[in-house]
Amino acid sequence: MAEFNLPPNSRIRAGQTHPAPAGAKRVREFRIYRWDPDDGQNPRTDTYQVDLDACGPMVLDALIKIKNEVDPTLTFRRSCREGICGSCAMNIDGGNTLACLKPIEDVKGAVRINPLPHMPVVKDLVPDLAQVYAQYRSIEPWLQADSPPPPDGERPQSREERARLDGLWECILCFCCSTACPSYWWNGDRYLGPAVLLQAYRWIADSRDEATGKRLDALEDPFKLYRCHTIMNCTDTCPKGLNPAQAIGAIKKLIVERVV
Ligand code: SF4
Ligand code: SF4
Ligand code: FES
Repeated sequence: MAEFNLPPNSRIRAGQTHPAPAGAKRVREFRIYRWDPDDGQNPRTDTYQVDLDACGPMVLDALIKIKNEVDPTLTFRRSCREGICGSCAMNIDGGNTLACLKPIEDVKGAVRINPLPHMPVVKDLVPDLAQVYAQYRSIEPWLQADSPPPPDGERPQSREERARLDGLWECILCFCCSTACPSYWWNGDRYLGPAVLLQAYRWIADSRDEATGKRLDALEDPFKLYRCHTIMNCTDTCPKGLNPAQAIGAIKKLIVERVV
């Protein structure tokens, strides 16, 4: 096992290198953050040399190959492998994205993989999402209407009303955006962050929902909403191509318009 160099003041220990199999011709290094809550040690970075000729094309393929064939202790979340469940969100090559949608070939040189930034870590690449899910629960993400539905049970929308949800319903709650947002890094206990605010707007924008006033009242708060300073990291990083900053702007506009 070899070690690679880290800055002398790094709190991340140098880890192990797992060499590629003999005869591998197309070798790529994966430098992966490791932390075990049970060993009492600082985090470390382990290096895995993977033969790309024997691996699928995405970063998640490499992680699964490493776990299955090299190191079963490597811990990460994944489920759908198709960019739908949001569970494989992590920081790859310095950017938050979905491992299942990130081609290895898009990364030059060693592939650096870390957990989503500024979140507590459960183990290795698994962030603790308890706070952000509590914030999601706080915006009451379900349809609220006092008027009874039509007898057939469906609440109809026009095509135009339905179109207002485009760019919102596609959010998969991966939290790449919130964990790329400097305001969320510093005030994540009180600022709701772009993912949860986009979800809040998804219900505000829904023509069938009758709780708009209550929802806007709940968001009109110096921290929950107004910590967004339009830095746009959220929109830049969203792996689904959504625009949380625009949704936040739309909420602010609605609040202003109802005051004047
Ligand atoms: S636009 Fe707002 S939510 Fe998005 S990264 Fe910037 S401060 Fe955060
Ligand atoms: S807006 Fe994009 S980055 Fe943010 S949680 Fe939804 S899908 Fe993920
Ligand atoms: S595994 Fe589901 S989004 Fe990547």
